[in-house]
This record gives sequence, structure tokens and C-alpha cells, in this order.
Amino acid sequence: MNDTRPLAVVTGASRGIGRELAALFAVDGHDLVLVARSPALDDAAAELESSGVSVTPVHADLRTEAGVRAVYEAATAGGRVPAAVALNAGTGIGGAFVDADPEELLAVVDVNVRSTVHLARLFLADMVRAGSGRLLFTSSVVSLMPGPYQAVYNASKAFVQSFTDGIHDELSDTDVTVTSMLPGATDTHFFARAGMLDTLLGKGPKDDPARVAKDGYDALLRGDRRVVAGSLLARSMAAFGALAPDAVTGAVHKVLARPRSGG
Ligand SMILES: NC(=O)c1ccc[n+]([C@@H]2O[C@H](COP(=O)([O-])OP(=O)(O)OC[C@H]3O[C@@H](n4cnc5c(N)ncnc54)[C@H](OP(=O)(O)O)[C@@H]3O)[C@@H](O)[C@H]2O)c1
Repeated sequence: MNDTRPLAVVTGASRGIGRELAALFAVDGHDLVLVARSPALDDAAAELESSGVSVTPVHADLRTEAGVRAVYEAATAGGRVPAAVALNAGTGIGGAFVDADPEELLAVVDVNVRSTVHLARLFLADMVRAGSGRLLFTSSVVSLMPGPYQAVYNASKAFVQSFTDGIHDELSDTDVTVTSMLPGATDTHFFARAGMLDTLLGKGPKDDPARVAKDGYDALLRGDRRVVAGSLLARSMAAFGALAPDAVTGAVHKVLARPRSGG
């Protein structure tokens, strides 16, 4: 690590939107602390290190408090305060709520909600003391609507959205910025991992994760409150979620997320 370069932390950087965010930080000359569990993280780190910045991969499971602590310790080693943190790691679970494994449901809450609050608390306190810093949260357009057949995931993103809006306002008279990015359906491993490939959402059109990440990154640099990231489809979903009654958005989501192979 080089103390003269700014440091960026990206969670969920082994693939998908997080990997694209990490690439954008690298292009802008940030050293990187990248977080995920799988070996794909090392490939991402090696690729980005070849662009001339220092990259520290942290293999941490954000379902656990030990994982959260490991990320914070790696990022703040030597007393450094990151210039930017992207709390992007997230996971979903589709299918009927009453048939789901309770442990898998709670893992979604642990990663998407608990680790996000914990890491935000740790990093934001340092940034406020240092008098600068930028935080980006990956929310979702589905934060704006009920989530039949994906209820815990949508609720987790509704939490992230409300939480982000709250701390954005709380810190508005500081030089620390808090931005949320709301992607629509994006072409990553997300739907396969959530067991949702047999849904209309899983089979439908998706945005390029590079485009989504760029919209979020630009909003972070501007210090925007929130950005709907991606195509017209994502923006249409966000407008629908914001303007239509919950009974209507929930009914549409039920059709889009219902498993077609039974469920
Ligand atoms: N794809 C979409 O349609 C979409 C739409 C709106 C919002 N989002 C949000 O975008 C964010 C990124 O998702 P993505 O679409 O890029 O999906 P993805 O390709 O599945 O990537 C998810 C990332 O999160 C990491 N992760 C998951 N569980 C983790 C854990 N327990 N500990 C540490 N890291 C963990 C994964 O790393 P490892 O597997 O290597 O641990 C991976 O790097 C998520 O917050 C997701 O909810 C996605």
C-alpha cells in the first residue's frame, strides 16, 4: 500500500457489480481493499494490481462478526482512513417464504443488513473524525416495492435504502457523503445464486454490471443522495415502485418472481 494514494474498500468485489466498481476505483488511482469469500477474489485482485495500484484481497464471510472485523482491520491497518467505501456485497433468496431454510433467510439479513450497518458504523466514524470520505451502498429498485417470492431480500434492501437516506441527511452538514445506488435486474451471478433462474425476473432482460457500476460510481463522486443505476428498464421499475400503490407493485412482483417450476 502507498500512503500517497487514496484507499477504496469494495465488498462483494469477486464478481458482478462489485468487481466493476473496484475497476473504476483502480483506474482513478486508488489502492484497494477487496472483500469476498471465493477464490475469484484473487483473480480480481491480480487483474487490478496489474494496473499499478496496491490491492489487498480480504477473504471474509460477511455473515459473521469476525468477517466484518477482519475487513475493518485490513482496511485501517497503519491508521489509514479510506477515501471511499462501497458496501456492495449482497445475496438473495427466491421461492416461497414458508418453504425456505430459515438459516438461508437469516444469512440474507446478516449480509445485506447486519454487516452493512456494522461496517458503515465503523468506517463512517473514522471518516467523520478525518473530515472527509465517501460511502456508497448498493440498494436495489426492489427496495421500493413488496417482494412476494423474494420477501426477505426486498425487505433487506428497503432497510438499506431507509438507513442510507437517514445517514445521508444526518451527515449532510459534514464533508462525508453517503450515496445509495439502486440497480435494476443486472447480468451477474445474483439470480442463479438466489435460485431464481426459473422466474420471469431471472429470465428477463438485464443491465450490464459495468454500466450499473459506472452510474453508481459517478453518483458517489458527485455525493448524490441516490441514483437509479442502469438502463431505462431500471429507471422504469424505480418509477413504478415509487409511484404505484404497494398492492399494485406487490402483485406485479409476485408474477415476476414466482417460480415457474412449481413453487
Ligand atoms: N444482480 C441484480 O439484478 C441486482 C439488482 C439490484 C441490486 N443488486 C445488489 O448488487 C450487489 C452485488 O450483487 P451482484 O449482482 O454483483 O451479484 P453477484 O455477482 O452474486 O456478486 C455478489 C458479491 O457479494 C459477495 N458476497 C455474497 N455473500 C457474501 C458473504 N457472505 N461474505 C462476503 N461476500 C459475499 C460475493 O462474493 P463471494 O461469493 O466470492 O463471497 C460477490 O462478490 C448486491 O448487494 C445485490 O443485492 C443486484
